Amino acid sequence: MVKGNAPHVLSFINLKGGVGKTTTAVAVAEILALEARQRVLLIDLDPQTNATVNLISEDEWGKRDRDGCTIAQLFDDKINDHLEPKFDIERAIARKVSTVNGGIEGLDLLPSSIRLIELQGHIPGIAMKGIFTTNPLDILKKALEPVIDRYDYVIIDCPPSLGEVTRNGLRISTGYVIPTIPDIVSTWGIYQIVDFVRDFAARLEQTIEPLGIVATKVQHNNLHERIMKDLARGRLGKFGESGVRQPRFFESSIPLAVKVAQGADHEADLRTLNGKYGPQAYAALQGLTREIWALCEANSQ
Ligand SMILES: Nc1ncnc2c1ncn2[C@@H]1O[C@H](COP(=O)(O)OP(=O)(O)OP(=O)(O)O)[C@@H](O)[C@H]1O
Ligand SMILES: [Mg+2]
Repeated sequence: MVKGNAPHVLSFINLKGGVGKTTTAVAVAEILALEARQRVLLIDLDPQTNATVNLISEDEWGKRDRDGCTIAQLFDDKINDHLEPKFDIERAIARKVSTVNGGIEGLDLLPSSIRLIELQGHIPGIAMKGIFTTNPLDILKKALEPVIDRYDYVIIDCPPSLGEVTRNGLRISTGYVIPTIPDIVSTWGIYQIVDFVRDFAARLEQTIEPLGIVATKVQHNNLHERIMKDLARGRLGKFGESGVRQPRFFESSIPLAVKVAQGADHEADLRTLNGKYGPQAYAALQGLTREIWALCEANSQ
């Protein structure tokens, strides 16, 4: 999948909101950087800025937002191309981020901004602007060119949609992970995602591997157990009846745990990832990261 020094670029994606995409993406990025000593860039593509304020304080985010040091400024520059461009990738990347231990060496963040909400509707129109034609799908790819080779892994936290911003993320992705609560509504759109990404990649002559589905916020109840059984057998919903193969189901699943929901608290004086996520969820997140890591390493042989 990955050749030479190119990083593994993994999008965390699901059409359903609140299923743990951000929590999982942030934890995997932290574990890869802290424990596997990988150089990791987390890109927050969601205007809700949840990954951003998990990794840097709201004060720092506010300053960066005012200075145009977020992903929103990148798109703003292309939309308002009659103005002097402000986005500078080197300035926009926040270095050594995390709530743990005052930051994790090797973990960088390209922050998001709520300004993306108003901007995203204008992105498709960018192609018509200026003297040169700009492919709106390639905006993030072009912006990252000067820095991407510095990283071993790029983790992308996507908004719960397959809109233009998510497509910018998929455009640079080598693989994707689908976090889902093992219930009916959260798993419903998974078939559509796999089908969409397959077509998208084929059209762009790109390989975007579905690395797998991870169960999140897992509880001991009949519904969760039944859906996890279907997932383990590769027979989730429509996958069972169609020719489209269900992506693998990761062996590690993330339990519902109060501590996880508190992990983004910058006042909590967190010293370790174990303290941030609590022992049970942390062990599961470590297991998931090892599975992802093993798949990526096997792909780059
Ligand atoms: N394993 C868990 N146990 C308990 N709470 C969790 C767990 N994972 C996530 N949460 C909480 O659930 C909420 C939603 O999680 P998260 O923000 O990661 O989901 P998301 O899929 O990124 O949502 P969105 O679609 O809005 O971006 C958050 O408040 C988070 O703290
Ligand atoms: Mg999120």
